[in-house]
Amino acid sequence: MPPPVVELEQVSKTYGDVAALAGAGLVVRRGEMLAIVGPSGSGKSTMLNIMGTLDRPSAGTVRVDGHAIDALSDRQLAALRARTIGFVFQAFHLAAGVPALDAVADGLLYSGLPRGERRRLAERALRRVGLGARLHNEPHQLSGGEKQRVAIARAVLGAPSPGSASRGDGGPLLLLADEPTGALDSRSGEVVMDLLHELHRAGTTVVVITHDRDIAASLPREVRIKDGRIEHDSGTAEPFTGRAAPHTFATEHEHEHDAAVVERVSR
Ligand SMILES: Nc1ncnc2c1ncn2[C@@H]1O[C@H](COP(=O)(O)OP(=O)(O)O)[C@@H](O)[C@H]1O
Ligand SMILES: [Mg+2]
Repeated sequence: MPPPVVELEQVSKTYGDVAALAGAGLVVRRGEMLAIVGPSGSGKSTMLNIMGTLDRPSAGTVRVDGHAIDALSDRQLAALRARTIGFVFQAFHLAAGVPALDAVADGLLYSGLPRGERRRLAERALRRVGLGARLHNEPHQLSGGEKQRVAIARAVLGAPSPGSASRGDGGPLLLLADEPTGALDSRSGEVVMDLLHELHRAGTTVVVITHDRDIAASLPREVRIKDGRIEHDSGTAEPFTGRAAPHTFATEHEHEHDAAVVERVSR
């Protein structure tokens, strides 16, 4: 059985005298899709950033795909993150003046793939999110919903699932989305959520912070956070039994391979 994608134990994060997280515990298993909800300032983004290894906790234990992150150097952490996690943010985080194709292809800059191959995979990822006719548009030539679809294509391509035959097939092990529909009209928001559901069906574990009650209620699990603590967790509907996606059948061998990659990067 593969390790949980994310395990938080008694995780705290303080900024000066502000306790953004105060002893939060959460286990996210492979193949889950869950909503994180809670009032503004309750610690949702802090928790997502810690789950995504963008930030380290002040106290407590964080494991990502079985790796205890306090045992990893910043470089090892960056390697783990690049290999397993995709991010989507409310404000898209697309650089001005960069066409969609380049924005997505640049997600593969450190993959070692030649430029032509990076662009071919980027084009395929953009076609998959329905943007085949917008490959050369810059952010200011895209609607909010289209920008978010570019961001999703980039997140999916940048962190391919470990078991997939090639980059761009399947999604990342974990996709973290911080209010991905927060800046969108409801129709564009639905398209973005449909894409996240599609990724989930393909085996990616998806965590979505949302203010939208309908979205939260439509996901299999809802976690409510308040004052830096988990206030309520609807839990998973049923014990996880496996899913027909390549990375959920990751073998022991593949885990050894992953560990070897982390090892190598650390030298
Ligand atoms: N980098 C930071 N520096 C100082 N305070 C921060 C920082 N990030 C978050 N906080 C504070 O931590 C608390 C939780 O923030 P956040 O996780 O962004 O909440 P949410 O995403 O639920 O709105 C807030 O009080 C916020 O002001
Ligand atoms: Mg936030």
